[in-house]
Amino acid sequence: MSLTIALPKGRLFEESIRLLKEKGILSKDIQEGRKLLVESDGFSFLLVKPSDVPVYVENGVADLGIAGYDVLLEREPNLYVLLDLGIGLCRIVVAGREESKERYFKETYIKVATKYPNIAKKFFSERGVKSKIIYLSGSVELAPAIGLSDYILDIVQTGRTLRENKLVVIEEVATSTARLVCNKASYRNKRDRITGFFSKLM
Ligand code: PRP
Repeated sequence: MSLTIALPKGRLFEESIRLLKEKGILSKDIQEGRKLLVESDGFSFLLVKPSDVPVYVENGVADLGIAGYDVLLEREPNLYVLLDLGIGLCRIVVAGREESKERYFKETYIKVATKYPNIAKKFFSERGVKSKIIYLSGSVELAPAIGLSDYILDIVQTGRTLRENKLVVIEEVATSTARLVCNKASYRNKRDRITGFFSKLM
């Protein structure tokens, strides 16, 4: 049986394909389109939402996956993290308007909009700050501009989205890169093939 690999669509997709080609795992490009199950080079690739990669791998419908550390931190899935792939570098940050910057470190109560409610809850509770977490599934940078929240917790890659919405980084929570993740049962049952795949990526 061939290995099934969950790949993140969107910002990490191209870098993932480039890496798989560079390492000789893929012989040709996979296009990010409407087709969500692609067979290539003896593997089955599932093209899924980045935040869902751990769901497919944890539940064993994918043996392996490429997932951002941000997503793993948020979901804390029950799987093995085999390798830091070094691609998809970004920062998880708290951001807000320039004028909120000084106030931020004195706040005892923080209203924050985010796609990462668990990371946010943990981060502020460890700092001893009360927080109200407003979960959004996208366009988080809009929240401070329209008064939905004072701050956001989100990922920053180029910084363009923050700039265009007149926000600045206030505090860094963590840096994130993509990781190769593996289903626990697959690791036992398909060990040779998984080790083969993994060693090509090292
Ligand atoms: C992420 C993130 C920011 C943006 C940051 O969203 O939530 O909005 O990228 O990138 P930048 O610093 O390069 O501008 P993404 O584009 O992944 O899409 P989403 O909002 O649909 O989740």
